[in-house]
Amino acid sequence: MTPLCKLSVKYGSDKNIVGYTPVYYRLLKDRKVKKVLEIGISGLRALPNNVIGASLWMWHDFFSDAQIYGIDIDPRFMLNTDRIRSFVADQTKRETLLNVVGATGGDFDVIIDDGLHDPFNQIVAANCLLPFLAKDGTYFIEDIYVDPAAVALCTPRGLYRYRAFLHGEEVELDGPERHFGEPPAGQNLLMIENSRSDA
Ligand SMILES: C[S@@+](CC[C@H](N)C(=O)[O-])C[C@H]1O[C@@H](n2cnc3c(N)ncnc32)[C@H](O)[C@@H]1O
Repeated sequence: MTPLCKLSVKYGSDKNIVGYTPVYYRLLKDRKVKKVLEIGISGLRALPNNVIGASLWMWHDFFSDAQIYGIDIDPRFMLNTDRIRSFVADQTKRETLLNVVGATGGDFDVIIDDGLHDPFNQIVAANCLLPFLAKDGTYFIEDIYVDPAAVALCTPRGLYRYRAFLHGEEVELDGPERHFGEPPAGQNLLMIENSRSDA
């Protein structure tokens, strides 16, 4: 079990159960991360140890110098501490996401979309927030239920590098395994890396 998996268990996120924390650990363990934004805070879940903001606490402990920002449509899940700040915002509404960018200054090293898990609105949020990735920043979309290449085509592909993971293993974005299936397949992750030279 990776250190990130252990933190997920500690706070009762499902990111270890669905197999994302080993991938995140592999991809992020050597990164210098100062700002993390996650869509989808949650709490009150029927998961062992679950606390409000389970994954925000997980990132807080893993990236010990980082500011952690969370977004949720549900005001019950707001959480504010020394390094964690939460906002009520709706990923289907660009203006509410842009308010969060304004309040935090953007320039995020890591953004995770673990919110609505609806393909159209995953794309809405990605198109809104990708310009606010830091140089070499990374955007993750969890639970892609359509062909990830289709999501990639709906975001500015030339400006970013895309990688897809299925059940923890990297798959060719344009290869035959890319058909991630229908809900509740889950465990499918799209990673979008900033390669904009102007960032
Ligand atoms: C799967 S839970 C997040 C779990 C959390 N990241 C963790 O690992 O412990 C999804 C959350 O997304 C929130 N959500 C649903 N629709 C949303 C929307 N349109 N905008 C923002 N958040 C939304 C829900 O209220 C819920 O708290």
